[in-house]
Amino acid sequence: MNYEIKQLYSTDEIQQKVNELAKQIDADLNGEQVILIGLLRGSVIFLSDLARAVQSEAKIDFMTVSSYGNSLTSSRDVRILKDLEEEIFNQHIVIVEDIIDTGHTLNKVIEVLQTRSPKTLRVCTLLDKPSRREVDIPVTYSGFQIPDTFVVGYGIDYAQKHRTLPYIGHVVFKEEI
Ligand code: IMP
Ligand code: MG
Repeated sequence: MNYEIKQLYSTDEIQQKVNELAKQIDADLNGEQVILIGLLRGSVIFLSDLARAVQSEAKIDFMTVSSYGNSLTSSRDVRILKDLEEEIFNQHIVIVEDIIDTGHTLNKVIEVLQTRSPKTLRVCTLLDKPSRREVDIPVTYSGFQIPDTFVVGYGIDYAQKHRTLPYIGHVVFKEEI
C-alpha cells in the first residue's frame, strides 16, 4: 500500500452522531412514518445504524446511481442503475447518503424523486465536503463537515476497499507523509 489510513472519527463518535441525526429526523416526522432511502453501496452501514436509532416507523429502500465525470465539460453524467421498489407518492422520504462531494449525485436523485410527489423529501448525510460543492443541495441532516480529503471506512470505499472498517479514516498517500 502506498498510503496509510489515519482515523478521523471513532466508532463511538460516529454512533453518537448517528443518534443525534436520528433524533432530529424523529422530531421532524412528528409521529408519522418515513421511508429511508439508501444510496448503494456507500450508505449501507450508515443506514443500518440510522434505521435502528430512528424511533419513528420506518421502511427502507435502496437506489444505485453511478456518476461518470466528464473532464471536458466539468459536468457529470449521473445514471440510475437500480431504482426504488417502494412507491414514494405522499410519503415522507429521507435520502441517506454517506458523503456529499460535488453534489451532482444527490442533485440527480432529488430531481428524479421530486417528480414522484413525496410528502416531504429531505437529505441526511453522514459526511459533507462543502468546499467541493458544484451544485447547491438542500441538506437537512448533516453529520460531520470535513475538508477536501479522501475518506474511507464505515461503508465508504477506496477502489472498493476499506468499507468494512468500523471507524472513518482519511487516506494519506505516502508522498504526503
Ligand atoms: P458527488 O456526486 O460528487 O457529491 O459524489 C458523492 C459520492 O462520491 C459519494 O457518495 C461517494 O461515493 C463518492 N465520494 C466522495 N468523496 C469521497 C471520499 O472522500 N471517499 C470515498 N468516496 C467519496
Ligand atoms: Mg456514494
